Amino acid sequence: MHYIQIYAILIFIKKLKGTMMNWIDFYEQKKKIINEKINFYLNELEFDGLLKEAMLYSLNAGGKRIRPFLAILTANILDKNEEIIYPYAVSLEFIHTYSLIHDDLPCMDNDDYRRGMPTSHKRFGEATAVLAGDSLLSDAFTLLFKYGQGNLQRGGQYLAASSGGRGMIYGQILDCNIKEEDRDIKILDNINYYKTGCMLQASTAGAASFLDAGLEKVDILNNYAYNIGLAFQITDDILDITADEKELGKPVGSDVKQNKKTYPVLMSVDEAKKSAAGYIEKAKKCLDNINDSVFKKMLIEFSDFIIKRTN
Ligand code: IPE
Ligand code: IPE
Ligand code: MG
Ligand code: MG
Ligand code: MG
Repeated sequence: MHYIQIYAILIFIKKLKGTMMNWIDFYEQKKKIINEKINFYLNELEFDGLLKEAMLYSLNAGGKRIRPFLAILTANILDKNEEIIYPYAVSLEFIHTYSLIHDDLPCMDNDDYRRGMPTSHKRFGEATAVLAGDSLLSDAFTLLFKYGQGNLQRGGQYLAASSGGRGMIYGQILDCNIKEEDRDIKILDNINYYKTGCMLQASTAGAASFLDAGLEKVDILNNYAYNIGLAFQITDDILDITADEKELGKPVGSDVKQNKKTYPVLMSVDEAKKSAAGYIEKAKKCLDNINDSVFKKMLIEFSDFIIKRTN
């Protein structure tokens, strides 16, 4: 047989395997790659001593890796070489991990437990925790600009803006400073969009920008992530009340302790679940104009996981 025929058969088998793969297998496979890449870039950037230990501690504590996974899935939906997105995907997880380290500090949510382990400030003290977070944020961009091979201007700007003062940080500052009596559903949706939705937009629409996708696709993914972002945070707030703490890996009742009026407090747990499910349906509808593929199917199945998860 001619080598071109063998090559065609191999491509066909690969595609067939792809169509048979369910999203969970794909997710587990990509999680392994993400974990390898995180550690690869940590070594490449030659972090040292206590700082490296603290960064590694939080990065390797076992997060779900949803944001880098979404970036990799986006690359596949756009039919791009997924390897191009790896540095961007790791940057997302660096920034997300920094946001969690700072979110847990005594001056913010004051939580002692994260990803199934003592929080960074409990393990290393506040100064090192703050600095590990700072380095994860800045060096997310060091690695992106040093190793990124996509459209750095578009993707880098998207990621910076999504995590900054008109993105995730804006949500965090609203969440920290709002008077509890003012919290209503509209205000909560706004906070949830910024604090959680923006980084999910960076994981989909931002990844697409980094891969130089057309504006129409970026827009679709942006709207998709807006809706899953709201559903993601509502579910996080429900789990804060209903989850098993060991399984959740972070304290149950953190919002209650702070008297935070979250969705399940403003309505009931059941109504909050219905609202989250409504946002997931909207999110799926946003994808109507994306070409059908096995990867689009995985994104649709992943959307349901956001509200069905137990941690
Ligand atoms: C937790 O995010 C913080 C929120 C935005 C609600 P995740 O639930 O993705 O946390 P990890 O990364 O799996 O620990
Ligand atoms: C914060 O939301 C989301 C971030 C931007 C880090 P939460 O404060 O509810 O997140 P958890 O529950 O501590 O993970
Ligand atoms: Mg918080
Ligand atoms: Mg918190
Ligand atoms: Mg929470």
